[in-house]
Amino acid sequence: MKKLMIALGAFFCALPLFAQPILTKDNIEQVLKAMTLEEKATLCVGGARAAVVNGVTSGQAVGPVQGAAGNTRPLARFGIPTTYLADGPAGLRINPTRQGTTETFYCTGFPIGTLLASSWDVDLVEKVTTAMGNEVLEYGVDVLLAPGVNLHRNPLNGRNFEYFSEDPVLSGNMAAAYIKGVQSNNVGTSIKHYAANNQETNRNEDDAIISARALRELYLKNFEIAIKKAKPWTVMSSYNKLDGKYTQQSEDLLTKVLRNDWGYEGIVMTDWGSKAATADATAAGNDLMEPGNETEIQRIVDAVKNGTLSEADLDRNVRNMLNYIVKTPAFRKYNYSNKPDLKAHAKVARDAAAEAIVLLRNEQNTLPLKGGENVALYGIGALEFVAGGTGSGNVNKAYVVNMKEGLENAGFRVDQSLINYYQAYINFQNATRQLTATNNRGFGGFGGSVLANIEVPAAAVTAEAGRNDVAVIVITRNAGEGADRKVPDDFNLSQNEQELINNVSTAFHKVGKKVIVVLNVGGVVETNSWKYLVDAIILPWSPGQEGANAVGDIIAGKVNPSGKLPMTFPMSYFDHPSSMNFPYDYVRGNQGNNRNPVKDVDYTNYEEGIWVGYRYFEKADRAVSYPFGFGLSYTTFSYSKPTVKATADGFIATVTVTNTGKVAGKEAVELYVSAPAGGMVKPEKELKAFAKTGMLQPGQSQVLTFTVSNYELASFNQDVNRWEAAPGTYTVKFGASSANIPASATYKLGKQQTWNVSDAFLNVAIKDMTF
Ligand code: BGC
Repeated sequence: MKKLMIALGAFFCALPLFAQPILTKDNIEQVLKAMTLEEKATLCVGGARAAVVNGVTSGQAVGPVQGAAGNTRPLARFGIPTTYLADGPAGLRINPTRQGTTETFYCTGFPIGTLLASSWDVDLVEKVTTAMGNEVLEYGVDVLLAPGVNLHRNPLNGRNFEYFSEDPVLSGNMAAAYIKGVQSNNVGTSIKHYAANNQETNRNEDDAIISARALRELYLKNFEIAIKKAKPWTVMSSYNKLDGKYTQQSEDLLTKVLRNDWGYEGIVMTDWGSKAATADATAAGNDLMEPGNETEIQRIVDAVKNGTLSEADLDRNVRNMLNYIVKTPAFRKYNYSNKPDLKAHAKVARDAAAEAIVLLRNEQNTLPLKGGENVALYGIGALEFVAGGTGSGNVNKAYVVNMKEGLENAGFRVDQSLINYYQAYINFQNATRQLTATNNRGFGGFGGSVLANIEVPAAAVTAEAGRNDVAVIVITRNAGEGADRKVPDDFNLSQNEQELINNVSTAFHKVGKKVIVVLNVGGVVETNSWKYLVDAIILPWSPGQEGANAVGDIIAGKVNPSGKLPMTFPMSYFDHPSSMNFPYDYVRGNQGNNRNPVKDVDYTNYEEGIWVGYRYFEKADRAVSYPFGFGLSYTTFSYSKPTVKATADGFIATVTVTNTGKVAGKEAVELYVSAPAGGMVKPEKELKAFAKTGMLQPGQSQVLTFTVSNYELASFNQDVNRWEAAPGTYTVKFGASSANIPASATYKLGKQQTWNVSDAFLNVAIKDMTF
């Protein structure tokens, strides 16, 4: 009798559990079966858009993590919690203050993506994002909406600062390291914006028309590398259309390429603002609409009921969502502290900036300075130093070190009267400036800005040259989400800036003193017309809250620069073939939806095909101001005779790098491959791998090893829809930059190898540029 009671008891206890299982990682199918259609739709639609109230993102829509960009919806009866999603690439973006508490919630402003890529150091990037991911975890966020990996197709894209490079191998490997670091904290990432979101102008509607070859070799390759190597928890589809379809509704992109070809197993979410065709997006493999609303839930329910969306497709997405939920800290009920170690992370940010800053010019060893010099510091941006860009990539950091502080911290004396002059102007501007509410994306409106530079009278410059040892001029750009940059006064220096460089160089050189330019910019600027006027150029990009300290350390020689360019600096903007069809002269219209009344930007033909960045400049034999992969050091390196050994599916290469100079330093080596002649037309050479030495003392050597597979050597033959590695002799080039190859060797591939892919992006009517 007793036994029967126990058995009955167990049966009745199990019954409700069976009807209404509480989610665990082992009962996903059971939970899926128990869900109603409405519940399934609810899980695939995010919480409502967070409102911005008095310049602060309202916590209402996003619960306790105020300022998080969005969330997923809870389903209490299955124990499914709300999970939180927040931006975004240079650190976590949440509100720094909250009503009802004096506690603050600042995050670390790390270097922007472009600076991280300039390090050419995957270990460094992983270290940075391990710290970043810790802030995600400790502030109660489940997914960081980063990294941004879109290619630098054109230098004017307003969001290039968030992205890494013009090259897919550098971008993809940077993204992989980024994802590994963040996700080592058991929080997620969202690699974005998938795919071809290469301009901000009319980004919601623009149709990027790209050939299958250019897509597979460039615009998808970076995602492919990162997704295969690092398995991000989530992918964010982009706003734009790609070859005629919104990416969030493209089965080719989201299912055939992403899941079938690459084996991706995480979720796909929309970028912020899904489209009306929610059911189409669901069918195509977009699992989550962000942010969401009740209408979208209803659309999914209706579509299943009227047979336009199969429940099997919805179930597939729900299964993906449940697999995502069980990994999250929210699901684990992680007891977050709201107290990450910001001090320790500031140091990580500073060290990373120092390792990645690029030295572009250093005539007659102008740098490093001896130490303790009197510095005349020019440019409003010296005081209003830009740590990062605006928009969702902004970080609400507690402070930003400016260039005056950076120089002083490195032991220099900064000319105070010049500082007073600039400060008075800034105070005046602040007092008179119309107060625009700045939300937590760091801007009053969309887009970035060029900091106006006031003139410094010629007589004053002469006096400053007399009483100082050296001049430092800061050139500043602040790019941002929502607008592309322009050619005059942004890509090109303004007249005021040119005059400043001219006047300061003339006055200082007259008395035998040097001039250093610091480019505190978010994207490429024109350098060729003025670089010969100055003695040194340092490129810290937007280096995060501690970046000015890193610049100070480089000027003082405490750090030997080892960063290299992740893109080409052309002679002129119009040298880029993509300038033929990039909306560089677009003026924002007033017809809503970013549309320009006079200029059609509904589509962008990527007519240059694969000829992006150095691939084009080398093939066209066009001179550049600074080549891809270029960066100077305070020491010199030699490369030994390399080795290349065939493996079962490719080769392993080594090269020994020796520090042949007088100070310790690090060297990034870029491995390029030139394909055998015959077959498809290919770039002169393409980056296939890269590696960086540790700190080498003078005379010290290190062996660097590179692994390349035959698949990585292949090009995409769109006529037969497959990857092909041509047979023959490949030249393996070990570059200090794309234009400087100190060592090379060969690799022989006996017979052609091919790899088939899904039928996707076939029949795109675009003719690529040919050579
Ligand atoms: C951006 C995304 C960002 C999202 C959430 C969008 O405007 O394009 O990159 O993650 O907002 O803030």
